[in-house]
Amino acid sequence: MKLIIFGATGGTGRQLVSQALEQGHSVTAFARNPEKLNLQHENLQIIEGDVLELPALERAIQGQNAVLCALGAPAMNKRKIRSTGTQNIIQAMEKTQVTRLICQSGYGCGETYERLPFHYKYIIFPLFLRHVFIDHELQERAIKKSQLDWTITRPGSLSNGHYTGEYWHGLASTDTAITLTISRADAADFMLKQLTDTSYLRKTPGISYPVKKIDQVVECKS
Ligand SMILES: NC(=O)c1ccc[n+]([C@@H]2O[C@H](COP(=O)([O-])OP(=O)(O)OC[C@H]3O[C@@H](n4cnc5c(N)ncnc54)[C@H](OP(=O)(O)O)[C@@H]3O)[C@@H](O)[C@H]2O)c1
Repeated sequence: MKLIIFGATGGTGRQLVSQALEQGHSVTAFARNPEKLNLQHENLQIIEGDVLELPALERAIQGQNAVLCALGAPAMNKRKIRSTGTQNIIQAMEKTQVTRLICQSGYGCGETYERLPFHYKYIIFPLFLRHVFIDHELQERAIKKSQLDWTITRPGSLSNGHYTGEYWHGLASTDTAITLTISRADAADFMLKQLTDTSYLRKTPGISYPVKKIDQVVECKS
């Protein structure tokens, strides 16, 4: 497939780019600072640009089969890059008639907030992640309002650990105990799997390692 990846120089984005190339996709990495990617491949095209500039987005998205978004910003940044950038991406997709969007948000958005453990809900979120989740809520709202074929993935806390390919994913965490952690490599793996699986079309699956041993992964029955 022809894929465009936003946030390509970030932790998850780099994983998306390298795994997508390994899987044989033709990848366009959209990046403010292309030199940060430091990667060359015959199926990789890098477009320098900013998601806040709509005309550049339209040119980059034209002709793609799917859009993957892993935009992010530092935790204390109040500029709402995720939501503003995603609104621009949606606008460009609608204009260029590209319909499939897979976007990374975070566990704790929407109804999953109520399922967070005490220390996340009352300490970590209000003190450290307030701006991040205000931005993700706005981002998710914009995506859900669109006419696109979207999937929003909600990973728990991201690590730079290895790819395992084994993790819990689903819509309700009540049927299994989860650690609320996952590696960026596995989060990217799950996003790429959505390209050929419509089970989570217009849905917001969470992803996490289960509390159980890694070889006892429980899959959600959605
Ligand atoms: N950290 C966690 O534990 C956690 C948990 C769940 C969900 N999430 C969410 O997952 C997402 C990805 O996280 P991450 O840690 O993989 O990302 P990250 O390393 O922070 O990377 C963010 C990416 O967004 C790009 N970006 C920012 N502003 C841009 C702009 N104006 N135009 C174009 N690109 C821009 C950055 O480009 P530059 O390289 O040029 O800065 C970078 O490639 C975030 O939205 C985050 O909130 C994080």
